[in-house]
Amino acid sequence: MKKLLILFFSFLFMSCANDSESDLTGPVPIKISYNSDVKPIIQSNCLFCHTNPPQNGAPMSLVTLLDVRNAIENRGLLDRISRPQGAPGMMPNGGTRLPQTSIDIIIKWRDDGFLD
Ligand code: HEC
Repeated sequence: MKKLLILFFSFLFMSCANDSESDLTGPVPIKISYNSDVKPIIQSNCLFCHTNPPQNGAPMSLVTLLDVRNAIENRGLLDRISRPQGAPGMMPNGGTRLPQTSIDIIIKWRDDGFLD
């Protein structure tokens, strides 16, 4: 009986351990939102030029959700921020390439359907 109990408890323990492990390695169920995730990235890296009205020769503003969405769909925004550091046309213009995490956040925002 004692052996059976030990078996029972170690089984319980193992199944718990398995559960928490799959929590850690499973897909991350995050939805990216414009206001909490994308806007802060654009604000601190792009609005110096892409403000409204645009400055320093920038051709459009990136102030609103629709501005940014339009630039992704029609002006190659993701291509521009994905170019290697120093490549012609890389954005931010003349600056430092965004951290890959920030680029991935903007890509996922597009993939999730441009959530508010
Ligand atoms: C120092 C000023 C400056 C900053 C900062 C800057 N840009 Fe630009 N951007 C420009 C200029 C000037 C152009 C036009 C020249 C060109 O197309 O390379 C431009 C062009 C673009 C274009 C192409 C528009 C078109 O219709 O061809 C995109 C997309 C863009 N920027 C996105 C961004 C994003 C996203 C950021 C922030 C990560 C950013 N820019 C930061 C100055 C800037």
